[in-house]
Amino acid sequence: MRDARSAPPFPIRRQARLAVFASGRGSNLGSLLEAFPSTGEEPLASIRLVVSDRDGAPALERGAEASLPAEHVPFGRQRASFEERAEELLRLHAIDLVCLAGFMRVLSPGFAERWHGRLLNVHPSLLPAFRGLRAPEQAIAAGVSVSGCTVHFVDAGVDTGRAIVQRRVRLEPGDDATALAGRILAEEHVAYPEAVRLVLRGEVSP
Ligand code: GRF
Repeated sequence: MRDARSAPPFPIRRQARLAVFASGRGSNLGSLLEAFPSTGEEPLASIRLVVSDRDGAPALERGAEASLPAEHVPFGRQRASFEERAEELLRLHAIDLVCLAGFMRVLSPGFAERWHGRLLNVHPSLLPAFRGLRAPEQAIAAGVSVSGCTVHFVDAGVDTGRAIVQRRVRLEPGDDATALAGRILAEEHVAYPEAVRLVLRGEVSP
């Protein structure tokens, strides 16, 4: 693996190979697959690997349907063993950029450092507001009129890395967390491919 901080990782002079880590239904994986199909017809990038910490996650099925290697890597209480296997897979599939998409685990500062500039996440709020779990609930409880989503670089903190793309969503009277989260999710599906393009073209760096 390259020394993470030696040179800006992007742009590269060939199609980038992407991995997506997801814990659940994988709708962001779906939007990334539409933008960067596993079949490789998008010159900028192609998804080559799906990893989930949850056995039977719908995201793994989506990956398999796209004929991708889609592997369950148990997390359990052993973050180190998850990261060891995940990094083995990333090397094996020569992955250039990792997209966390509804991946509900916190990776170690060491992992974030080794993948500096090559590890992205999507979060359902306008960071730095409402970090952590249940961001739509937090937004409603805070009584804000606008929330949204952020695609950001991952650093050693939780939801603290530099923002790449943010999209706003207006709160409606009577909104509950499910309704708000649904409208935010629709914006995530636009924001994530856009952020990946910006990163791969070298237009933003952490
Ligand atoms: C998204 O709202 C994402 O922001 C959050 O988890 C959800 C994942 O949805 N971290 P999906 O699995 O991509 O459908």
